[in-house]
Amino acid sequence: MEKAQLTFNGMNLEMPIIEGTEGEKAIDISKLRQETNMITLDVGYQNTGSCMSSITFIDGDNGILRYRGIPIDELAEKASFSEVAYLLIYGNLPNKEEQQLFSSRLTQNSMIHEEMLRFFDGFPPTAHPMAILGTMVNSMSVYYTDYYTEDFQAGTFDLMAASLISRIRTIAAYSYKHSIGEPHVYPKRDLKYASNFLYMMFDSPVNPYVPDPDIERALSTLLILHADHEQNCSTSTVRLVGSSMANLYASICAGICALWGPLHGGANQKVIEMLEGIKQDNITIQQCISSAKDKGSKFRLFGFGHRVYKNYDPRAKILKEYCEKIFKKYNYQDPLINIAMELEEAALKDEFFIERKLYPNVDFYSGILYRMIGIPTDMFTVMFAIGRLPGMIAQWKEMHDAVPLKIGRPRQIYTGSNLRHYLPMDERK
Ligand code: ACO
Repeated sequence: MEKAQLTFNGMNLEMPIIEGTEGEKAIDISKLRQETNMITLDVGYQNTGSCMSSITFIDGDNGILRYRGIPIDELAEKASFSEVAYLLIYGNLPNKEEQQLFSSRLTQNSMIHEEMLRFFDGFPPTAHPMAILGTMVNSMSVYYTDYYTEDFQAGTFDLMAASLISRIRTIAAYSYKHSIGEPHVYPKRDLKYASNFLYMMFDSPVNPYVPDPDIERALSTLLILHADHEQNCSTSTVRLVGSSMANLYASICAGICALWGPLHGGANQKVIEMLEGIKQDNITIQQCISSAKDKGSKFRLFGFGHRVYKNYDPRAKILKEYCEKIFKKYNYQDPLINIAMELEEAALKDEFFIERKLYPNVDFYSGILYRMIGIPTDMFTVMFAIGRLPGMIAQWKEMHDAVPLKIGRPRQIYTGSNLRHYLPMDERK
């Protein structure tokens, strides 16, 4: 076995090299503190692997993304969202019986407890739907208590996973209906995942929802592209919270909160707001690029850059092509896509972006497609959360399947005051 050597202060430590199935390598430092009394320091975990995982493979330098070995472009084109959810959680694409059982669990768990409907009345119509989503998902842990036990493997995990995947969609649609003051629409048992969501969002007694297979496929594709992305900020949050043996609902709620941030899943809302701002205030593309490069300004080019991709994000590539194709088919015009493309072209030619390998990420074009589907801007991150849920669940399960479960607990280098003593109030400066 290959080993790495650390020599410090007369000490010599040999550490095993761990190799993944795609040849990526890590130095196993698990004995470091025990043997040297030192820790590693890696702010933002830029070089730190927190786990071994067999769910998602990313090669950021070459723009590759695979779920359980299957390339993302194949899944985006051919799979249904529920198949991808099954693949991520259980490891393989479902056969016919498995798919039927999984779909029937989703259907059986698609309505939310009627008492939970009253929760929506407590939120002002202006409430951000991500705040509602997090609250409602956490509240599921008080309504579906018999779905989890401390030993989640006692057969309840399957129900809990289906309950979350199905009910998150109902909660999201109800929060939209609440925001526009319309009555909620119950899910229909004969509709597929994406269609059911669109039905609950857009059906009303005066304007019945008219299904459109292209739009439903577009939504499934978006959800599939979001379905997992290994140890990102929100998924790592789910693992960290879950590592204390908190239940799945609580762990997912924490992940949803992490996803909300504009540097992560919240970027899709920010991208559209940025593009709208450029249009409304007649900002030139060059002015926008200059502000993004200006270290004195807090402005960033939202939808650009990624911790792992140092090449074009494969999901952004699929979405850009998808937008062009579907816009043409529907003869749909959106001035924001032209601004986005001009911005992309200018950024990709600019030395600042080239040097730092900053490319469009998944959020750059997803909002433009969500707009076409009719999803309001403040719900974009909710859509991301619906898509990401199977991945979060799969990662939570993988962590719990590992024996023994290890609580996540990073260390720190303390930089505060040395020992000092309590002073009574009148002696303080
Ligand atoms: N606009 C302008 N400059 C950028 C951008 C951007 N979008 N992204 C990175 N940079 C610059 C940084 O200023 C930094 O420059 P420096 O080396 O001169 O200091 C360099 O590129 C490296 O950037 P970091 O912030 O150190 O990279 P990190 O890996 O920590 O952050 C992140 C990645 C958060 C995604 C970042 O690129 C960013 O803020 N992007 C915009 C927000 C966004 O689109 N987020 C969605 C990401 S995808 C997802 O989470 C689903």
